[in-house]
Amino acid sequence: MRTPLMAGNWKMFKTPADTTAFFDKFLPLVAGAAHADVAICPPFINIPAAVAATSGSNVTIGAQNCYWVNKEGAFTGEVNAPMLKAAGCTWVIIGHSERRQFFGETDATVLQRTVAALEAGLKPIVCLGELLAERESGQTNEVLKTQFLGGIAPLTPEQFAQIVIAYEPVWAIGTGKVATPEIAEDTHRAIRALVEEKFGADAAAAVRILYGGSVKPDNVAGLMAQPNIDGALVGGAALKPEDFAGVVNFK
Ligand code: PGA
Repeated sequence: MRTPLMAGNWKMFKTPADTTAFFDKFLPLVAGAAHADVAICPPFINIPAAVAATSGSNVTIGAQNCYWVNKEGAFTGEVNAPMLKAAGCTWVIIGHSERRQFFGETDATVLQRTVAALEAGLKPIVCLGELLAERESGQTNEVLKTQFLGGIAPLTPEQFAQIVIAYEPVWAIGTGKVATPEIAEDTHRAIRALVEEKFGADAAAAVRILYGGSVKPDNVAGLMAQPNIDGALVGGAALKPEDFAGVVNFK
């Protein structure tokens, strides 16, 4: 059985002091959550505060991006995967749609960053998802297949076994328009079929596929009841301790 992963993506929100205050409230609310892995991915600047606050707890910390080569160098503004590992990160989100839309992320750089993260000992949460126009014109499966073939399929089976996939329909992110459990389940099933075709049935049965896009305490149970949905990548509802605890404690 796949252990659910409930991961919060804080995007560009909160200071170090806000981070400590969040975990003071959040940790007691999820201390009994043995049914799921729980992670928070804050902005880089808050990683030390988040790692310190969660030390010895059941919550792990991740970053929202990493550089695509594991060397130091003259790359102003970048942070590499070994630095994140040394700072205490477990996870790194790769290829979020906001990186693709606003910062030039491509399937090729998703693949490079994923390999770099794996080589540094981080667990990548690799994001896929279609735009509204793509869904409305019936291109969803084709778009996801292109993203999968470019960003994920070239991994070795050993590398693939270490990643988590997050399906995030772009039209559902931050819009309040959650995909229905049926739409999400259909798409997750299609992604798992791509995995099976490339990496085989065992890999397809083992990989966790998270849903992301307007997940809230009041809609998470319906999503998590679907057989192919193995957790959530949560933006807005991960910013408040009570809300994200409500998502984590979905059952
Ligand atoms: P949202 O964001 O929960 O605010 O829709 C999800 C995400 O972008 O990871």
